[in-house]
Order: sequence, then structure tokens, then C-alpha cells
Amino acid sequence: MHTTEELQQILEKAIQNLKFPDQPKQLYDPITYIINLGGKRIRPLLVLLATELFGKDAHDSIDAAMAIEVFHNFTLVHDDIMDNAPLRRGKATVHEKWSINTAILSGDVMMVEANKNLAKVNPVFLKDVLNTFNATAQGVCEGQQLDMEFEMRDDVSIEEYINMIRLKTAVLLGGALKLGAIIAGASEKDADLIYQFGENIGIAFQLQDDILDVYADPEKFGKQVGGDIIANKKTFLLLKAFELADGENKNSLDSWTGYKEFDSKEKVETIKQVYNTLDIQNIAKESMNDYLQKALVVFKQISATEDAKQNLLTLTNQLMAREY
Ligand code: IPE
Ligand code: IPE
Ligand code: MG
Ligand code: MG
Ligand code: MG
Repeated sequence: MHTTEELQQILEKAIQNLKFPDQPKQLYDPITYIINLGGKRIRPLLVLLATELFGKDAHDSIDAAMAIEVFHNFTLVHDDIMDNAPLRRGKATVHEKWSINTAILSGDVMMVEANKNLAKVNPVFLKDVLNTFNATAQGVCEGQQLDMEFEMRDDVSIEEYINMIRLKTAVLLGGALKLGAIIAGASEKDADLIYQFGENIGIAFQLQDDILDVYADPEKFGKQVGGDIIANKKTFLLLKAFELADGENKNSLDSWTGYKEFDSKEKVETIKQVYNTLDIQNIAKESMNDYLQKALVVFKQISATEDAKQNLLTLTNQLMAREY
């Protein structure tokens, strides 16, 4: 079994060894650009950790880990178009640096590159791996569609929101863990349990992402702070604020989410002020903690030793306290 630091080194090396064609440059340059901007590499790490949790070597699932990270980066390239985001990992987004059309097509070919990595997985597991990967990728698209539809709605419930983030974010964390488990030859029961564990930490992960979008230190965050507020994203924070606000706070939320034209900075400041008065950040953190607890209950049921489970537990706790 490797330490988490060793797994991170194995990952970084494999990422540097990824080869893409070089012509046409406009198609492939954005891929190396976005992948080399870094990121936390959480999802491929989850693939490797799951494989080692069930007693196999991380190298067995390195190709699946690469597929997951390339796929994740593809979703970011398209997500940034959809969210009109200027910044990613502290640098210009692909559609800003090149163009929207380039970002669409480079994203498409990244999905193909993800599949090429997946095809290298041990054939014994390939059918299960493909089914899991496809279900995951389809879930992400469904979640992203709901995320966009919710921008235009003012009657989104917290329940609908949780389902939306489960799809756009959590299924990928669950899917990454499940792929690692499948390739380790884990039982179907354990593969399902680790998927559920991943879904619950994934929901907590997206709640944290929503919090950071408002409260992160811009230097560390690497994305535009306040982007969700500007776009009227139906985040947990906004939905909770609508639920709790009355009087002046309610008027403020109604007006600022209704304006077609506004000063971005002023909108972000005003809505953040409403969140502060209503203590929304702490309420969101409580909800995160609820999903963490759900995850831990499921994790206990997985048949592996406490020792083998330690690395995943440590990573989970680090994720809950992340600042970017
Ligand atoms: C960003 O994911 C997209 C979300 C689901 C919130 P990460 O926060 O894992 O992004 P990187 O890969 O570390 O940049
Ligand atoms: C992203 O949700 C989910 C996917 C990329 C599929 P966000 O839109 O909140 O992610 P960030 O904040 O841009 O990373
Ligand atoms: Mg986004
Ligand atoms: Mg988005
Ligand atoms: Mg976000």
C-alpha cells in the first residue's frame, strides 16, 4: 500500500506522460493548457485510493484514474462556457484564451481521450468499468442541464438543489471510487457502498464549493469570487437565504436577483451582506457536515481493515476543510 503522497506522485507522473496529438494545435493546445494548470487531482486520487483500499496496487487503476481526470477537465472547459467564467485555477479559461468554439471542440475531443485511457483497463473489468463511467458521465450532463435551468427559476427547492449537485458533482466522486473498487475486484456490495460514500462526500464537496464561491480568498481560490451570485445560481446559500429572509433582506434578494442590468461588484456585496445577516455560511456548513456524517456511516459498512481505510478518511477530512 502506498502513502497518499506517493499516490500523488504516481498520478503527477502519469499526467505528465499523457500524450495528445499536436495537430491541429488549436484543438490540442487547450488540453495540455487546462490539464497543466493543475488542480487538486482529487478524483483520480480517489480511483487509486479505492483500488488500494481493496488490496490491489494503484498502478492497476492508473489508466482509469487518467480517464477520470481528463473527463473532469473536459467538464470544466464546457462548464466555464456555460457559467461565463473568466478564471480557472488562477488563469484565463479556455474559451477566454482561445474562443468558445475552440473550447467546445477541445472539450469534445477530451471526452474521446478519456475513453482511450479507459480502453487500456484490464479487459476482465472493462464492461463494468464502461457501464460505471457512462452512467457517471450521463449523470454529470443531467446535473449541468438542471443547474442551467435553475438559473431561470425562482421556485427551486433545497431537495431539487441537492439532486442537481448529486448529479453534476457527486456522481463523479462516487464513480471514481467505484471504478477503483471494480478494478481491485471488490464485491458488488463493497463497490456500491463506496459509490454511496463518494456520493455523500461529493454533495458535501459541492456545498463547500458554493460556500467558497462567496467566501474564498480570491488569491487562493483561482476562480472568480461571486460568480454564482452574478449568475443567479440556485446555490444552497441563495435558496436558504430566500427561505429565511423577510423585510428588507427579502426585498434586497428579490430586487437584485431580478435586475437584468447591474453592477456585478455591488450585487455580490449586497447579497453577501444578506447571507451574513442570516448566518447562511454556518447553516451551509451544518448541511455539509450532515452529508459527511452520512458518508461515514456508509464507509463503516465497507469490508476492509481500519488501517486500509485510513488514507481515504484523512483525505475526506482534508476535503471538508479545503480553501480552494
Ligand atoms: C471543480 O472541481 C468543479 C466542482 C465540481 C466544484 P475541483 O474543485 O475538484 O477542481 P480542480 O480540479 O481542483 O481544479
Ligand atoms: C461544476 O459546478 C460542476 C461541473 C463542472 C460538472 P460549478 O460550476 O460550481 O464548478 P466551478 O465552481 O465552476 O468549478
Ligand atoms: Mg462553474
Ligand atoms: Mg457550473
Ligand atoms: Mg462552483
